[in-house]
Amino acid sequence: MTTVITFGTFDVLHVGHLRILERSRALGDRLVVGVSSDALNLSKKNRQAVFSEDERCELVASLRVVDEVFVEESLEQKREYILRFGADVLVMGDDWAGRFDEFNDVCRVEYLPRTPSISTTAVIEHISGMSAS
Ligand code: CTP
Repeated sequence: MTTVITFGTFDVLHVGHLRILERSRALGDRLVVGVSSDALNLSKKNRQAVFSEDERCELVASLRVVDEVFVEESLEQKREYILRFGADVLVMGDDWAGRFDEFNDVCRVEYLPRTPSISTTAVIEHISGMSAS
């Protein structure tokens, strides 16, 4: 049984999120997802998430390819999470390429290409720019 772990905020769930989760799951038999806590997201992105950590966890957990979800409280605990969930593979988007190679001693580290032209920020900006009419 190969366990894959990945992390993210997954706010305003979009197809880029779905695709990285699908590709992550395809690398193993079980996919565990660390969803950033509201506080961690605020500190990382300097913006309040639209959906709460509970709502984001509920949405991510409902996806067919996701087996288990937990709240990621701190970026510094990545090693602990990898060990706690027995992850064999850590997946990150390639915007983080090389930044997590330190975990190669406990699991395989894979950086997957992001889906082009979509992000939570872009969706929020798109909706904010729509006229009310
Ligand atoms: N992701 C992806 N393709 C995209 C957007 C995100 O593969 N177009 C991946 C990220 O690389 C990460 C995961 O989805 O592994 C969660 O990313 P997150 O930061 O929650 O989403 P973004 O859309 O990048 O959010 P933001 O615009 O707030 O940075």
